This record gives sequence, structure tokens and C-alpha cells, in this order.
Amino acid sequence: MNSENISDSQPKGIIIAIDGPAGAGKSTTAKIVAARLGYQYLDTGAMYRALTFYSLTNNIPASETEKLTQIASDMIIEFETTEELNKVYLNSQDITSEIRTPEVTRAVSEISAIKGVRRAMVAKQRKIGKAGSIVAEGRDTTTIVFPDAELKIYLDASVEQRAERRLLDMSKQGVNTTLKEQKDDLIRRDNFDSHREHSPLTKSPDAMIVDTTRLTIEEQVDEIISKVNSVIKK
Ligand code: DC
Repeated sequence: MNSENISDSQPKGIIIAIDGPAGAGKSTTAKIVAARLGYQYLDTGAMYRALTFYSLTNNIPASETEKLTQIASDMIIEFETTEELNKVYLNSQDITSEIRTPEVTRAVSEISAIKGVRRAMVAKQRKIGKAGSIVAEGRDTTTIVFPDAELKIYLDASVEQRAERRLLDMSKQGVNTTLKEQKDDLIRRDNFDSHREHSPLTKSPDAMIVDTTRLTIEEQVDEIISKVNSVIKK
């Protein structure tokens, strides 16, 4: 289960970093790509969500930046991933569904904008990536976390398409919401994540842009796997 322990005897594969706005299909695509390649999947957003869940349950507001930075650096986040599931543990507690609630989603942008929190999370993410053979996804994996990643992808899609995907995800989770609510929430989060002072979401100049608006998940996965193959063959 501990994602920080990967055997040194395995041949080291490449680092694939995928960034993009919320709802572009990063997590579904990255999870399947990782499973196909036998790589580890790293959901960096889940780490910011884990801290946000902790802050909400312990009534620590985002203004307590030093306290949250300390908690971020002390917390133990572990993943257990298969093609179907991505279990997330915080200090050994399974918080997989708790980090996907609308409350956490609403609060996570502000928590993830804290400079010290980002520093702590990036250190954990680099430690996990040290072994290579990883598919990492988030907002700054191509720019800050893994600037030397062998393959960088910027996954994008129209906001309408992303809102429709989110609506479908929410209805599967039994959450009652509307397309307009989802679209407004995505626009608010995109705006916050792209304009924050520290590590905003940007298109890395060396990232390949994949627009998923008209692609199925299978097509997205195939496109990335073909890019991986061309990088590996070089
Ligand atoms: O991908 P997601 O929706 O689970 O991410 C949750 C939030 O975490 C998102 O609003 C922005 C933040 N995030 C970040 O700042 N940096 C990352 N590398 C990943 C996510």
C-alpha cells in the first residue's frame, strides 16, 4: 500500500506528468495509462483534498497557514491503486470517499494555494516519483513537481463538456446537482487555480496539448500511450 516504497531492483520507467483543469479527464485517463504500463498512478489533487478534509474536520481555517503547513508536512498519505479504484489513506485512515464531497471540493482551492502547504506536498510527490515509472496528474506536475518529466501532457476540454462529465460523476455518487452548478463551480475553480500566486495552473511550453472534448476515454488513453511509445523509442 505504501506508495513511497518501490523496489530499486525494478527497471526504472519514465515519468509521465499530466496537468489540466478540473474535469478534463486527468484522473480516469492517468489511472488507466498507469495500469496499462504497470506504472504507479499519483493523484496529487487527492493529497490537497486530504489536507482539506483534515482542516474541515478539525476546524482549522485556511488563514492558519503555518499550522496547515506543519500538518501537511507531518501527515502520511498513502495510496492503494488498481484500474478500478484509487484508495487514499490519511494517517492509516481510509478517506477515499470523504475527500470527494462537495464541501471538500469547495474548500480545496484555497488550502492548495498556501505556499508552505505546496512546498510540503511537492516534497512528498517528488519522493514518490524518485523511483520513476509513474503517471502523475494535477495542476503543477509538468511545471513544478516534475520539470524534467520525459513526457508532459496538458489535458484540456471545453467547460461545457467538463461540466457534463462532472454532473454524471456526481449523479453516480448520488449527489443532487445541476449542470449550471457544476459549470459555475468549474469556472470558479479554474479561475482560482490559474490565477493564484504560487504554482498556478499553466500550460508548460514543452507539454503536448490533448483536447479531450470530443474524445472517449479509450481514445484519450490510446493517444497518450502512443506518445509514451514514441518517447520510449527515442
Ligand atoms: O484534481 P482535483 O480536482 O482532485 O484537485 C483538487 C484541487 O487541488 C484543485 O482545485 C487544485 C488543487 N491542486 C493543486 O493545486 N495542485 C495539484 N498538483 C493538484 C491539485
